[in-house]
Amino acid sequence: MTPLIQILDGPNLGRLGKREPALYGTTTWDELAAACRAWAQAAGCRCECRQTDAEGELVGLIHAASDGADGLVLNAAAYTHTSVAVRDAVAAAGIPVVEVHLTNPAAREDFRRTNLLEDVVTARVAGFGTDSYRLAITGLAARLGAGSDES
Ligand code: DQA
Repeated sequence: MTPLIQILDGPNLGRLGKREPALYGTTTWDELAAACRAWAQAAGCRCECRQTDAEGELVGLIHAASDGADGLVLNAAAYTHTSVAVRDAVAAAGIPVVEVHLTNPAAREDFRRTNLLEDVVTARVAGFGTDSYRLAITGLAARLGAGSDES
């Protein structure tokens, strides 16, 4: 069975391409989602992508990924720094969760050094722009045994 990777993006990431391009680049969210699907396919996985600005919806999407996906790539965006609800959902996910960020939050404003996810995620990739997602998907696919006899 081909493993399913869920990609979840949090608030303001739907504005990629228009949002502070000097920081976040010019790739739109739709283009990023298409790239993620191609990277997942190349790594022997299926991939679904969702974005929401709403904290409660993000929690619900993490629950749905826990029940229906083999692994999760999560950019919780600002909720990384503020949301106990997102942290609790990740802690209870029961599937590998890779935290991704386009930028390196630890190298930015002080408030971004608060990270409520870092000790409940499986791994973290930050600071490579959209390539953070490629690296997260590739690492997660290997972890899931994608393309091997066990998958
Ligand atoms: C971000 C970093 C967060 O600090 C910020 O709130 C975001 C984007 C990133 O991908 O670099 O919205 O998660």
